[in-house]
Amino acid sequence: MKKTGDKMRKPIIAGNWKMYKTMAETKKFVKSLDDFSTGNVEVILCVAYTNLIILKENLNNQIKIGSQNIHWETNGAFTGEISPIMLQELNVQYAIIGHSERRQMFGETDLTVNKRVNTSIKNGITPIICVGERLDERESGKTQEVVKSQTEKAISGLSSQQVSNLVIAYEPIWAIGTGKSSSAEDANEVIKFIRKVIENQYDQNVADLVRIQYGGSVKPENIETFMAQPEIDGALVGGASLSPEHFKALINGASV
Ligand code: PGA
Repeated sequence: MKKTGDKMRKPIIAGNWKMYKTMAETKKFVKSLDDFSTGNVEVILCVAYTNLIILKENLNNQIKIGSQNIHWETNGAFTGEISPIMLQELNVQYAIIGHSERRQMFGETDLTVNKRVNTSIKNGITPIICVGERLDERESGKTQEVVKSQTEKAISGLSSQQVSNLVIAYEPIWAIGTGKSSSAEDANEVIKFIRKVIENQYDQNVADLVRIQYGGSVKPENIETFMAQPEIDGALVGGASLSPEHFKALINGASV
């Protein structure tokens, strides 16, 4: 548990499988988790749509199911999108929203992120909102400006209660899939700043409760260094979440 003031935050590890794993591979992965205990860590697997049914049918309820996107309408002519009620049927409890790959390659904007966040919450699905700067933005000293703007726009219109319950993932874009993670101290500083942004818009209570993960080349070898930082509540993990051994090691490393 992480503590700021008198508030406790449960550690949270989310695997983001991106466009990896067939249904057969997913079944095999889940089977290898059979006797594994997640301890005091909240664990989520965010998988491709085809694999959601496999998780629903095969996961024990220690691990929660997440999607990698969610549309802001419950149905309609939106080719290629997925509705919150379709996700509910599959026991999806979390949705990654605004991942940098969607922002950079699929036209996701701060406005669409905000719409998806609102609908997700209304339908009982907890958003994992991704924010983070590009390398050129970091190098020109704009990290704070970028994450402040993305955070404020993503949560615009939400109540204190709604913000307290969501998850934010700080993912510097230059660290994603590159093997080049942020230093734990730098990540902690940016996450502390995001908490301050939330405190200024809401209050300290909300800022103390919201869970903020770090993401970007997190591996079994560096998870403990990130978790040792007071502001970092867990990790959103891509590559290293694809191997059951590494995934288990990440969960053990996040356990306190
Ligand atoms: P990575 O991806 O762990 O492979 O860097 C993180 C992410 O994209 O969420």
